[in-house]
Amino acid sequence: MDYQAILEQIYQTVKAGENQGRVATYIPELARVNPDRFGVCLTTIGQQSYAVGDSQERFSIQSIAKVLALCMAYKNIGNTLWKRVGVEPSGTAFNSLVQLESDAGIPRNPLINAGAIVICDALLSYSPNAKRLFLDFVRMVAGNPQLEYSQHIAESEKSVGYRNTALVNFIKSFGNIHHPTEEVLDFYFALCSIEMSCEELSRCFLFLANQGKLPGTETEILNPSQTKRINAIMQTCGFYDEAGEFAYKVGLPGKSGVGGGIVAVRPGRYCVAVWSPRLNPKGNSYRGVALLEALTTTTQDSIF
Ligand code: DON
Repeated sequence: MDYQAILEQIYQTVKAGENQGRVATYIPELARVNPDRFGVCLTTIGQQSYAVGDSQERFSIQSIAKVLALCMAYKNIGNTLWKRVGVEPSGTAFNSLVQLESDAGIPRNPLINAGAIVICDALLSYSPNAKRLFLDFVRMVAGNPQLEYSQHIAESEKSVGYRNTALVNFIKSFGNIHHPTEEVLDFYFALCSIEMSCEELSRCFLFLANQGKLPGTETEILNPSQTKRINAIMQTCGFYDEAGEFAYKVGLPGKSGVGGGIVAVRPGRYCVAVWSPRLNPKGNSYRGVALLEALTTTTQDSIF
C-alpha cells in the first residue's frame, strides 16, 4: 500500500474542500492557535512514517491523553478499575454532568471528562507521584524523553475550569473521588496539556496497533486482551456523542481532543494522527474526520 501517495492525494482533496467549524475558545490558550493548520502522519507497525502538511508542529493533545491515562491505570490497577468507571458510550457531550446523578457518581466510560477524572484519582491512589509517573509512562510509550506538560496550557484551562471542578466535586459527593479536588484537577489539567506533533502522536499510540507491544521491541505495555479492550473503548466512546458517526464514517478506534487532534488505530497495521483545529459542533476536528474517512474509503481497509 503506497500510504504516502494516498495521504498526499486525500490531504489535497480535503484541503480543497470547506474548512468548517470553530477553534475551541473555552480554554483561552487554545483560541490562539492558527485555525488553518492541517497535518497528518501515519506510522506502520514496522515504524515507517508517512506524513503530509503540518505533521511536525506540536499541538495540545487534550482529551487524547485520556487514553494514555486509562492504559497506565489498567496496566497498574487492573480490572478493579471497572468498579469505579463503566465502559458504555455516554451519548452525551464530553463535559456533561447529567448522567452522574442517576448513575450514583460512576461515569459511563473513562474517555468523557468525568471518567478521566476518576482515572486520575485512581492513579493518585496507585502512587502519590502519579503526575510524574504518568509523564514517564507517556515518554516511554512515545519513545520520546523530551515530552513535557505544558504549564501555560494547564494554567489557562485551570483559570476557567469551573465545569471540571464541578465534576470532581459532584463525583466526590458520591464517594468516587478519594483525593482533594485541587490535587485531582492539577493532575487532570496537566495530562490534557501535553503537546505532541502528528508524527509523535502516531508513534505514541502505535502499541495499540501492535497487540500492546512497543513496536520493534518485546516490551509489553498491555497484553493483547487488554489492548483489545482499550481499542473497543476508543471505538465506542472516543468521540462522545459522535462515536457512532465516527465508526460509521471511518471504522477505526480513535480518540479526539479539543486541540483539533485525532488519533486512530488500525490494529495489525498502523496508527494515524491528524490535526486541524477547527471543530465540528460535537467538538471533533472537522477536517480530521474528513481525512480519516477518506483514508479508510480509499484504502478500503477498516476494522469492519
Ligand atoms: O477537560 C476539558 O475540557 C479539556 N481539557 C479536554 C476536552 C477535550 O479534549 C474534549 N475532546 N474533544
